[in-house]
Amino acid sequence: MYLTRLLYCSERNPDLDLDIEQLLYSARDYNGRSNITGALWFDGTYFVQVLEGGRQAVSETYHRIAMDKRHYKIELVSCEMVDARLFHQWRMAYFADTVDNRSLILKYSGQDKLDPSAMSGASLLRVLAEGNLLGD
Ligand SMILES: Cc1cc2nc3c(=O)[nH]c(=O)nc-3n(C[C@H](O)[C@H](O)[C@H](O)COP(=O)(O)O)c2cc1C
Repeated sequence: MYLTRLLYCSERNPDLDLDIEQLLYSARDYNGRSNITGALWFDGTYFVQVLEGGRQAVSETYHRIAMDKRHYKIELVSCEMVDARLFHQWRMAYFADTVDNRSLILKYSGQDKLDPSAMSGASLLRVLAEGNLLGD
């Protein structure tokens, strides 16, 4: 099964409750069972998420996530076959909105606040890969 990396961004649905700890707990449980790894960035408004794994597992997981009403305006940024994972140690790493991580946003975009539509897919990936990640 070809190794695949998918990157998307979305916006939080302000009309629904969101418990990010619970979301991550459940995501890690699912991902661990299907050998998905990746990272999630949430700044209170926007989500950016990378999913890595076998093509079928990534596809199934992405479609399930895209149906989730806790976010909307989901935009697929990229989906490609890759030789190696970037987040192999993480069932779903969390890129928190910290001072250090915000300075990385400035490194890769015109501002220090996350606006996924103002950043290339390559820049979004590099921010996540170089960021201070939490979780397992
Ligand atoms: C921003 C966001 C990221 C998510 N990330 C994952 C993930 O990495 N893996 C996963 O299985 N579910 C993830 N979920 C949760 C799924 O959308 C879904 O709720 C969960 O897999 C349970 O699905 P089920 O209710 O059909 O059992 C995410 C949801 C949101 C809103």
